[in-house]
Amino acid sequence: MRQLPEYFCDVFIVGSGAAGLSLALRLASHCQVLLVSQGPISQGATYYAQGGIATVFDETDTLEAHCQDTVTAGAGLCDPLVVPFVVHNARHCINWLIAQGMRFDQDREAASQGFHLTREGGHSHRRILHVADTTGQHLSETLITQARQHRSLRLLESCSVVDLLTTQPLDLIQSPRIIGAMIWQPSQQKLTRVSAKVVVLATGGASSLYWHNTNADRAAGEGIALAWRAGCRVANLEFNQFHPTTLYHPQAPNLLLTEALRGEGAVLCRPDGSRFMPAVDARAELAPRDIVARAMQQEMERLSVPCLYLDIRHQPAALILQHFPALYRQLRTLDLDLTQQPIPVVPAAHYTCGGVVVDQHGRSDVTGLYAIGEVSYTGLHGANRLASNALLECLVYAWSAAEAILQQLPQLTWTKPVPLETGVVIAASTHTSAILTQEQQLRTVMWQQVGLVRTTTGLTQALAQIDALQTALDQEYQHPPFPEQVLALRNKLQVAQLIVRCALERRESRGGHYLQDYPEPLPQSTPTILSPQIFSEN
Ligand code: SIN
Repeated sequence: MRQLPEYFCDVFIVGSGAAGLSLALRLASHCQVLLVSQGPISQGATYYAQGGIATVFDETDTLEAHCQDTVTAGAGLCDPLVVPFVVHNARHCINWLIAQGMRFDQDREAASQGFHLTREGGHSHRRILHVADTTGQHLSETLITQARQHRSLRLLESCSVVDLLTTQPLDLIQSPRIIGAMIWQPSQQKLTRVSAKVVVLATGGASSLYWHNTNADRAAGEGIALAWRAGCRVANLEFNQFHPTTLYHPQAPNLLLTEALRGEGAVLCRPDGSRFMPAVDARAELAPRDIVARAMQQEMERLSVPCLYLDIRHQPAALILQHFPALYRQLRTLDLDLTQQPIPVVPAAHYTCGGVVVDQHGRSDVTGLYAIGEVSYTGLHGANRLASNALLECLVYAWSAAEAILQQLPQLTWTKPVPLETGVVIAASTHTSAILTQEQQLRTVMWQQVGLVRTTTGLTQALAQIDALQTALDQEYQHPPFPEQVLALRNKLQVAQLIVRCALERRESRGGHYLQDYPEPLPQSTPTILSPQIFSEN
């Protein structure tokens, strides 16, 4: 048995998006924090967020209206306690963010305390604080600048977490307690044990499991797989949200065209320039995303066309350039001009509405293990997330988790290090092309069978295909050392299985889950919850 190098910290945070960094900053004046990011620290999902943060600042808006819009988008599955909890705590979290140096776009004329508020689908008011179309980039940079100044906050970039470490194996009576994690640092080819009193997963969602998606490649649900293996329940993974408008272009397949474009008047058109959304929903292009994305899919199938078009040419060029400067520049590099032509768009996987089951402080089923942000299932989003509620959830749960962690820490100690499990050994990359092929097969299965429109037969076939990929991988890689890509693919397959299992449990259509053989919602519905204990018994 070899002795591993080891890091000690009070709180170990995995993920460098809005949730992970905000929590780290709230904790770092009180305890030792280690934060790891899978890639470069700035490259979490937050960095790419174009939209903004939904918060009530308009004088004609109310907290009740924000709650109601969230519940309406969530299609009957939002937690009635969690929605007001998040909406009512938004203001002080935004003020905290501003105190960290965040500067939102201003509009001195508007009755919104000086902020320019934009609008997105499902919102009854202008409510989105933003920085033009690069809110996520500014948010990341603000938090990273602060984080780099904290002496008790250590940042480690480009690491992956191999597994979480708990006090005991799964058992039905006692809940396990987190004691740390095993991390892999590829640049040094080094496996390291982290001993921590508290571990927080802030790893984002799983949309990159889909062939077309708006996420960075790393957003493949790693935190969901880690938590599941540690003994946590997961919920509502069938509700993957598809964003209606990503660019249809071979050179930029993941480029999101922010919903704020529609908020500022952009319309969706067929190739002949005619609109179709007014006939689908009274809110037209500003209906909740599940409705718009599905209507687009149906229209593309009906017309046998590969894409539809987003048209904002009727707005003054100055307004477009003021609110969407980054998108305008990106599109120009592809010879497309937002001010002059309709832009080809398709829906793509965007956000994981379900995740690791947590309470209002981000506490999971494993003592000392928290999950915040997109990796978590808090109950806020229900069957379909309201636009720009995601960053808000990150900020509110970073605050509420910090409160709980600071209360819990004095009662916790580090647990005596245990020797390394012999199975957890990693090798440098080998056979990557075979693994790449398997990853592509997985993404194709997810896109074709677990996408915008599903059938029970398709889901059953998808599960069999994912199981077959798992079996092939297990046969090919039976003994350690495993290449790190194999460990990543195992996580992806595990999360894909969980998504399909959740989808098979839901025999109705609701929000982001549309099942052709059960096209209507049931009169009563509850969240889909899967438990690892029940699966390990079967
Ligand atoms: C967008 O800018 O359209 C995305 C915002 C979000 O997903 O909330």
